Amino acid sequence: MLNFTHNIPTRIYFGRGQISHLAESLREFGTRVLLTYGGGSIIKTGLYDRVMDILSDEGFTVIECGGIEPNPRIESVERGVALCKEHDIDVILAVGGGSTIDCSKAIAAGVYFEGDDLWDMVATRHGVLKALPLVDILTLSATGSEYDGGGVISNMKLNQKLGNGYTFPAVSICDPTYTFTVSKYQTAAGTADIISHICEEYFSRTPDSDLADGICETVFKSAIRNLPIALAEPDNYEARANLMSISSIACSGIPSYGKQGSCWPCHSMEHELSAFYDITHGVGLAILTPRWMRHILKKDPTCAWRFVRFARNVWGLDGDDETALAFAGIDRLESFFRESGIPMTLSELGIGTEHFAKMAAHANRGGLLKNSFVALDDEDIIRIYTDCLN
Ligand code: NZQ
Ligand code: ZN
Repeated sequence: MLNFTHNIPTRIYFGRGQISHLAESLREFGTRVLLTYGGGSIIKTGLYDRVMDILSDEGFTVIECGGIEPNPRIESVERGVALCKEHDIDVILAVGGGSTIDCSKAIAAGVYFEGDDLWDMVATRHGVLKALPLVDILTLSATGSEYDGGGVISNMKLNQKLGNGYTFPAVSICDPTYTFTVSKYQTAAGTADIISHICEEYFSRTPDSDLADGICETVFKSAIRNLPIALAEPDNYEARANLMSISSIACSGIPSYGKQGSCWPCHSMEHELSAFYDITHGVGLAILTPRWMRHILKKDPTCAWRFVRFARNVWGLDGDDETALAFAGIDRLESFFRESGIPMTLSELGIGTEHFAKMAAHANRGGLLKNSFVALDDEDIIRIYTDCLN
């Protein structure tokens, strides 16, 4: 097992009614709040009114920054930073999914950024930064942004979508009832994202991290068990609660304790799809993951033991032919995504081959993916994109 460091300074209030901790969580940092949210789902669901009632009853001053896009744009970060500076904001309250929380993290750090162009902050590799305090109320189980320090920001003019470190939320309020209204499409995409986070950590060369591998297998099985329930019964509390709790842990780094990092190849490839075509992150991952798996298994059969373990421990498959078993586990994953209603080809999303070479080069910039579970070069990546077409 390799050395690792653990430091997640986020306090999570998990469960029904935990919004009762909102006012005390914010007051710790001041009274002037930037309220960030997305395209209006929180207004439709009534959560906006609930939050505003609490904030006004408790005497907070609220400045609003709504309209944050899925795949949040640099322009929203710039708008939020300007509002924070103009209104002398003490604390940011993000209410929404990963896009709103990510954008809010970049706003929080952007307030202290000294350069002229905030895109430079996004595009320059760094760890977490000095930032305004951030409190969030999570409304979609997917990214784990509620329990990590990273964020992903897009610049559609440059066709770039880049992840970076910004800040950990100080407090995340995770009430599964707020996810009852998430559409089937976003519920399935969010669960695919959770599964992908675990794949990026599980598929590692390190063979002896029992805790990490056990957590990964538990998260896989929970996702597989609970997604169909949440799709059939959107207000099933137990299913939504299980999805929400695995969302937070999946991207926290805990499932990779003691393991060699994989460079997150499917995420690198997916961010290019979103940067060029603005697709839903989890959908891109669901399409890519089984194709990536088959490609690396064929390219380097010495990695087959991991796939055999995946087939046995996650899908409960058995058999003596280990190659067949390895591929059968991948087939099960692909069928699971398809049965969840996710469009499973790039063609269905209207994506063709036109940008594959450019996307592959950027996904693999600096030879990044030569250190992944099985090394990938640009040609491998183009092949994987091509396999995703149909
Ligand atoms: O914008 P609104 O109106 O709020 O609607 C959203 C949006 O249309 C809707 N939604 C959210 N909660 C809802 C709801 N609709 C009904 N009821 C609710 N309770 O769902 C749509 C998608 O929301 P979004 O926030 O974009 O989804 P998600 O949480 O999947 O976030 C995706 C973003 O996070 C990044 C992705 O790349 C993408 O940009 N990621 C962030 C990570 C991180 N910070 O660690 C890691 C991930 O790998 C990922 O890259
Ligand atoms: Zn992801």
